[in-house]
Amino acid sequence: MLTIGVDIGGTKVAAGVVDDDGVIVEQTLRPTDAEHPDLVAETVAACVRELGAGREIEAVGIGAAGFVDESRSVVRFAPNLAWREEPLQKRISGLVGLPVVVENDANAMAWGEFRYGAGRGQSHIVCLTIGTGIGGGIVLDGALYRGRWGMGAELGHTQMVPGGRLCGCGLHGCWEQYASGNALVVEAREIAAAHPERAEILLGLAGGKIDGEEVTEAARQGDDASLSAFAVLADGLGQGMADLAAVLDPGCFILGGGVSRAADLFVDRARKAFEERLTGRGHRPVAEVRLAELGPSAGLVGAADLARRR
Ligand code: BGC
Ligand code: NA
Ligand code: ZN
Repeated sequence: MLTIGVDIGGTKVAAGVVDDDGVIVEQTLRPTDAEHPDLVAETVAACVRELGAGREIEAVGIGAAGFVDESRSVVRFAPNLAWREEPLQKRISGLVGLPVVVENDANAMAWGEFRYGAGRGQSHIVCLTIGTGIGGGIVLDGALYRGRWGMGAELGHTQMVPGGRLCGCGLHGCWEQYASGNALVVEAREIAAAHPERAEILLGLAGGKIDGEEVTEAARQGDDASLSAFAVLADGLGQGMADLAAVLDPGCFILGGGVSRAADLFVDRARKAFEERLTGRGHRPVAEVRLAELGPSAGLVGAADLARRR
């Protein structure tokens, strides 16, 4: 049976036809603008039509970066995108005439990794997607945890720093303001502004405006400010994982998302910080910290499988 999985990002839609073994038979990528929900739905529909031509498709699964309601159809809120009470399921099924299931993007990714990636054979996993924000996906006893209203596993919005940086969700000090890709850039900019002598390589590379690629490249070249920004990210991740282990006791954490491409710059330190901060250390097994295996396709593969099981 074939289903289509779709991953909606802020600037592009990635979609793929996926078979029962989680194999992507064909995929496509189109630019979009998440500021305009109707355009996003049109883009998704265009992808589905393109991929579905000449094929029998059962259903469509969508991963979207926001708070999805319990009926898996409405994106009620998105801290980093323009969606407010967005009836994504209705819009898209109206355009493509197929059953549509909407899921939180990080939940879809966690499900993809659990079924076909780094979480295969595990029973309890926590997936963290480190990109613009921090997305969370939790699988407990083999089931995707969605909470009472569909909004469980919004792990990026647990508080790390009381009274800290303002978050897209409206609260202050959320974890994703300290351990995401955005946070990495903010941190590096702050250090470079206060201590330019520590950021010579970074400032040289960036010219005017510092972005994530430059922080990564500068860190690889030994830039002190950039390495410090990665250290802050690593320690924040470690602390957050330790807190999650206290609540959930997973067998493994899986790290994915754009920033995990620079995993060599932070994952060892994050693992160490996690182990140091883990409660009951020395008297409990320590969860593994793994990297995601499905790369940028995890979300669409997971969404396609969720659509199959709808
Ligand atoms: C949103 C989540 C999303 C995550 C990753 C967070 O800011 O609240 O819904 O999963 O970013 O995209
Ligand atoms: Na989630
Ligand atoms: Zn927040």
